[in-house]
This record gives sequence, structure tokens and C-alpha cells, in this order.
Amino acid sequence: MQEQARAVFRHHDARFESFWKRLQAEFERIFRLFHQLYGWQWDFAWHLETLMEALGRAAAARPNHLEPADHSWMSDPGAVWAMTYIDRFTGDLAGITEAVPHLRSLGVTHLHLMPPYAVPPGPNDGGYAVSDYRLTRPDLGTIDDLAAAIRALDDAGISVVLDFVANHTADDHAWAEAAKQGDAKYQAFYHMYDDRWVPDRYVSLLRPIFPDRGGDTFTWRADVAGQNGGKWVWTTFHSFQWDLDYRNPEVLIAMAGELFHLTNLGAAIIRMDATPFLWKEMGTTCENLDQAHVVLQLFNALTKVLAPGVMFLSEAVVHPADVTRFIRQDECPLGYNPLVMALIWEAFATGKAVLLADALTRRTELPAGTQWLTYLRCHDDIGWGFADEDAERLGIEPVVHRSFLNRFYAGELAESFSAGARFQNNSITGDARISGTLASLAGLERAGSDPLLRDLAVRRILAMQAISLTSIGIPLLYLGDEIGQLNDFSYRQDADLADDNRWMHRPRFDWEALAVAEQGTGPAGQILAGVRSLLEIRRQHPAFGEGVPQVVQTRHPGVLAYLRRARRDHDEVLVVVNLGALPAEAWLALDETWCDPSTGRAADRQAPLLLDPYEYLLLLPGRIAVAAGPRTGAGAEHPAAGSEKPRSTPAHP
Ligand code: GLC
Repeated sequence: MQEQARAVFRHHDARFESFWKRLQAEFERIFRLFHQLYGWQWDFAWHLETLMEALGRAAAARPNHLEPADHSWMSDPGAVWAMTYIDRFTGDLAGITEAVPHLRSLGVTHLHLMPPYAVPPGPNDGGYAVSDYRLTRPDLGTIDDLAAAIRALDDAGISVVLDFVANHTADDHAWAEAAKQGDAKYQAFYHMYDDRWVPDRYVSLLRPIFPDRGGDTFTWRADVAGQNGGKWVWTTFHSFQWDLDYRNPEVLIAMAGELFHLTNLGAAIIRMDATPFLWKEMGTTCENLDQAHVVLQLFNALTKVLAPGVMFLSEAVVHPADVTRFIRQDECPLGYNPLVMALIWEAFATGKAVLLADALTRRTELPAGTQWLTYLRCHDDIGWGFADEDAERLGIEPVVHRSFLNRFYAGELAESFSAGARFQNNSITGDARISGTLASLAGLERAGSDPLLRDLAVRRILAMQAISLTSIGIPLLYLGDEIGQLNDFSYRQDADLADDNRWMHRPRFDWEALAVAEQGTGPAGQILAGVRSLLEIRRQHPAFGEGVPQVVQTRHPGVLAYLRRARRDHDEVLVVVNLGALPAEAWLALDETWCDPSTGRAADRQAPLLLDPYEYLLLLPGRIAVAAGPRTGAGAEHPAAGSEKPRSTPAHP
């Protein structure tokens, strides 16, 4: 077998030897995981051999320049992620390098290029209906342009993140086309049924993900050859996204082949789309099943052999405990944090820190070698994914609270500052999620030209960013939010997009607005300067790169405070944020004095800390003497300086 494999490498002996070593290290795990899923099949060994052969071929084809990466960036406070749709950012792949100066100005180290792969004509869920992983959308460029863009960004110090949409293919993928023709092999790639007998046994336990489309999780497709003139196809998302049946080992092997191909394009990170849905079993909710984890762990083990530097990111927007289960070194070492995201919005709607503080305390711990991605919003909607039991423990009725949050962010309440919209409103359960850009949801759209409201909105946006950029994990920016881009309703004129209001928060990047913002004036300029300065402070402090926040009592329900600490360099930062539009007086339960080195503002347990509306402070331990300077807060008097022993106080820029 070793000699057979060596031949595939065409005498590139050194590369073969290192591949073989990695295979030996991972084979037991690959065998065990594959056996867990398919060990009961009589032809198990044959399938395993097919998989190994595909892996060997992919390893032999892997371009030479793709070296294993170093993962120390995961705890580097300078790591910053951004995400964008290529067409909406620079038009095409060739243009992407022109964006490098802007990305660099934010310190972006990782860029998620939303799916660039071939899609069906018409609606394609923003690229999440993939027709072919080996082709790109023609308007973006060719697959070679994609590889070239990845290399160019890499040369500029920016690693690329690409999607792997493992749960489904588009309904015009070659496998789906063969299934339509009645090819039994490919019909067995999907969950498809001649009648409702099987679907009806599943549906009562399934959560409708896109209820707006009507019907249930299954779609009747008259274009699929079947006994009754069509078939019912499992479509968790849109009717044109057909769920793959991973119970069939051929599906796993075929998808592994696509994953290998995509990995060889050079991405540093693969975003595993919709991880909770990968495996279906009757009698369950078909979400977060153990086998879904095994599939991901198997992909992980295979990728360790092919490209040991490549890392997976899990996209799971489910119960917080289930989200965490996907984040493991041997599965997806990175995971989005939809809980902190949702609770930042919750905190600014209620003006109360309680739920967010609780989540930061109880739900941020992760295994070693893994990390959260923290964000305020992405290309998807905002869902209120806090745990019912957490809310109930804190005396909050979860269903009523989610309904309040939906009304608040859809702008249905008089006191709301938000200009969002309901997404996938489920009239039966009353459930909904929210669409809108950061700036529009945070009040800039509704502020119009009112200078006072605009000022409040800018403060609110920056206070939200302050939490997102300092509370936990690696920060992720949706490009355009750094210049406060508002909702864009032009999608309503496009028949392919009109049904999906998430397009309102996916505006084209406004390069002209960026040029104006660079002058530093107006809301866009203030937001850009504020975000850059927060990122700069973040970069200076190892404390933001490791560990979890430690919440500090403030004796004010609307003031959130937490400590970040790093073992490295004994770095510590105290973050204090006023979540409300009124000044607040907080009494921080601190054992020592903390100080803002640029203004001399100090906080300790002997005196109240007075905060302006939406003010945030990043304080360092100790007291420093500074000349009286401009003070943004309403007070911040503190007992005589110098009464405590001096401590080292690294200066903020
Ligand atoms: C993920 C994507 C989302 C898409 C869905 C189906 O949740 O982020 O945009 O609709 O998967 O692929």
C-alpha cells in the first residue's frame, strides 16, 4: 500500500514521506470515526480504501507553496477577522487586492470571502447553494483567479476563510441532476421520498428554519423521477438547497473530495456551514446529533493529513451548550459566538447588563487550543439564542423577552432606536429573527439628520463595538459596518433577492463613503476612527487574546464591567461600559484603583464612577498622574492621586 501511495506522488519523495507520516499519525482516528459511522456496512473496508485513495491523490496534488501554518495567532490580540461578499466589496476577485490598504488600516488578519462557487441561475442564498465547488461564479472570475486572490491576500498578510457548505448542494449540482434523472446512486445522495410516509414521521420534531417559505422541511419536486411523478426532498433551508444524506458513505467520500479540492485552493480556514444539521435520524430533532460531530471530526482528521495548517470554523446558531460542543481542537477549533452577539443587542435594548454578564461568566469557557469569533452581526439575521433556563434563573420570561426584542429591533416600539425588520416571522410560534445593518439597528438610520440622535447613535455603535472587540475571542467585522453603512433596500427590485430581507443588511461596500470617513468627520468618520482606536488598543494588550472575562459588580444595572487578564506579561485591562442613553453612576467592586492613562480617569471602590451616555472606558491597573486634560465623563473624581503604590501602566496609543 505504501508503494502504491508513493507512486501517486510521482517520486516527490520528501512530500510523500511527510504525507505518510501524517497519515500514520491520523489513521487510527480516521479508521475509528469512519467505523463509527459506517462500520455496520458489509463494504466498509472498500469505502475506507476509496476515501484513502482520494486523500492521497489530493495530497499529491496539493500545491507546493502551501506550507503548514502556525496557529499562535489564535491568542494574538492583533488577530482581526472581516467578512464580505466579493461582488459587493470589490466587484470581482481580481479587484480584491485593491482593498488591501483598507483592510490593513483595520489590522485585518483574516478575510472571509463569502461563497464564490458556481451557483444556479436565480436565487442561490447568497452563494450557499453550491452547484460546483470546482468552479466559481463567472462574474467573480475563474477558479484560478480565486487561488490567485488567496495567494495575493496571503502575501499581504491576510489569510483567507472559505466556506464548505456540507449540509446540502444546489438543486442543479451534477449529483442533483443525476438524481432528477432517476439515477438510483445519486437519489441515495439525498433524502428523497416517493410519498409523505417517511417525511411525516420526521416533521413533527423538526424546527422550521425558513418558515416564510411555507410548507415544512420537505419540498415536493416534480422534476425528480419518482413513482408518483416526483419526490419529496429534504430541504432544511430553501427549496433549491437539497440536504445530503451522510448515512450513505458515498456521500461522505464525495463531499470529502470537494473539501480536499477546496482546501487545496489555499484557504487557511474552512468555515463549516450549518454544522448542526449534518446528520438526520428519525425520532430526533435532527440537529446537533452525535454523528454530525463525528462527520466533522472525520473531516478534521482527513484535513490534518492533507493540510495540517488548515483549521475549521463552526457555524452553529443553536442552544449555547450545543454551540460549544462543536468547538474542539479535533473538530472545529473555532466557532462563532452567537450568544454574546445576541446578548450585546439585548443589553442595549434593555439597558441592562444582567443576561450578558451572566453569559460572559458562565458560557465563554472553551477547551484549550480553541477560540470564539465574536461579532455584532454577520450576513445572517440576528436570533435570540440565549438559553431559556439562563433567562428564567435571572427572573426573565424567555418567550416574552424574545418577543420584546423582536418588536424592539423591528422598530415596532415607540422607545426603539432601531430600523430593523423581522426575518422569518413564524406566526404559529411567534418566533422571529432580525435583519438590519449594525448602524441601522443601532439608531443611525432613525436619527436622520438630528445631530443629537446621531451623536447618541454613534456612541451606541462604538459602545457595542467596544464590547464586541474586548469581551471574548477574536473579533469579526462585517465590512461596511466600520463606516456605519445603513440598510439597503435595493434588493426589493431584484426578483432573485426580494424574498429574503437579509439582503437589506448586505449593502455594496461604499468606497466613496470610506473616502469621506477618512477625513474623520460625520458619523462615518467618527465610527471609523473609534473602531480603529479600539482595535489599536486591543492589539497592545495580550489580555484580550486569552482567557475569559471576569465580570465586576458595578451596583448599576446598566453598567457592564469586566476584567481581561493574560498570564503573558501579567497584562490586565478593565472594561467599563454604560449601556444606556443616560449618564450612569457605578460603584465598582475593585480591590485596587484602575485608571485611564490618557485622561487620568480612575475607578475604585471608594468613589463612584460617573459615565456619560454609552461611554466606555478601558482602564489599566494603578494610578498615574496626568496633567488635567479633557474629561469626557460627567465626573470621575477620585481620591488624591499618588496615595497608592505606583504600578506599571502601559500607555494606550
Ligand atoms: C448558513 C449561512 C446562511 C445560509 C445557510 C444555508 O447559516 O450562513 O446564510 O442561509 O447556512 O446554507
